Amino acid sequence: MKALILAGGKGTRLRPITYSMAKQLVPVANKPVLFYGLEAVAQAGIREVGMIVGETAAEIQAAVGDGSRWGLQVTYIPQPEPLGLAHAVLVAEPFLGETPFLMYLGDNIIKSSITPLVREFERDRPNALILLAEVPNPQEFGVAVVRGRRVVKLIEKPKEPPSPFALVGVYLFDHHIFEAARAIKPSWRNELEITDAIQYLIDHRYTVRWHTITGWWKDTGSLDALLEANRLVLEDLESCIEGEVVECQLHGRVAIGKGSRLTRCTIRGPAIIGQNCTLKECYIGPFTSIGDGVQLHACEVEYSIVLDGSRIEGIEPRIEHSLLGKNVLVSGKARRPRALRLMLGDSSSVELP
Ligand code: DAU
Repeated sequence: MKALILAGGKGTRLRPITYSMAKQLVPVANKPVLFYGLEAVAQAGIREVGMIVGETAAEIQAAVGDGSRWGLQVTYIPQPEPLGLAHAVLVAEPFLGETPFLMYLGDNIIKSSITPLVREFERDRPNALILLAEVPNPQEFGVAVVRGRRVVKLIEKPKEPPSPFALVGVYLFDHHIFEAARAIKPSWRNELEITDAIQYLIDHRYTVRWHTITGWWKDTGSLDALLEANRLVLEDLESCIEGEVVECQLHGRVAIGKGSRLTRCTIRGPAIIGQNCTLKECYIGPFTSIGDGVQLHACEVEYSIVLDGSRIEGIEPRIEHSLLGKNVLVSGKARRPRALRLMLGDSSSVELP
């Protein structure tokens, strides 16, 4: 069994962040999205990984290296243009050969282990095994219609979804997928769709099995989904304070990295703060990830991701539901966030400016 991880593509929905960064490397809870996939593959006992890369190849390669950090052997496979998931499969054919493989989309995060799925595929040897999740917005994904154990129909991003079952970005295939990918034509978005290739397998009486996912799954291709993935991963955060905390109030589960110093701050977890950060007189609310080397002064940040080297200072309104890239500067004039904490006795009288 080999794995094929797709880390090419363009990431248009996350612009402007993806003008300077591969979408698969945007961190969720301070870890690049792609690393969650690598961990899942390693956990399933697969060692040989083909990594599809596009215009961000150098950056992906710098982050992942030879894969030995996860006990993996990573081979980089350049895809000249992002012409679709089935196109990526064809580009990887010389690497994959006749070996069955797990295909994992590099911008997907899945909570549950994929290991049982891999074991089932190895045991039963269907021609394909797909993973489905019931979602409220199926029109944004590939959608499957199933009858009993059979997959009857697959449609890519249908305007009127025939079912609530979206295709999760994890697939298992044997070598018949190459025949299918060669037979199909590009879609309306000019891509060779993996959904069409799987439909070909169904139409030609190959065995296509399906499973629904347990636990959550996120395709992190959009801002909302990325922040939601950040929230879901932080739900499982464990407290770990390695930095220095002076006159602060920490509530709930909070992680603070080495070399960071927090002074007179309120942190309401789950929240993670990276290494070598300086935070002074600020409020960090739940579901926030602050990268390394970030400086925050007199500001409030909640349900957001702030990447390495950014600086926010003197901002009065709370920053919420936001993604700030690397080395961003957001500054204002306010000296302190406007917040009052009062315990006033009966008949008190308070005047505020
Ligand atoms: O996330 C699940 C969805 O992924 C499925 O429900 C859809 O059926 C499937 O087509 C796919 O839809 P997306 O439109 O979200 O795929 P996206 O273009 O975001 O590409 C997924 C990953 O594959 C991403 O990490 C980029 C990479 N990629 C994409 C293309 C088109 C490549 O490496 N090469 C490519 O040619």
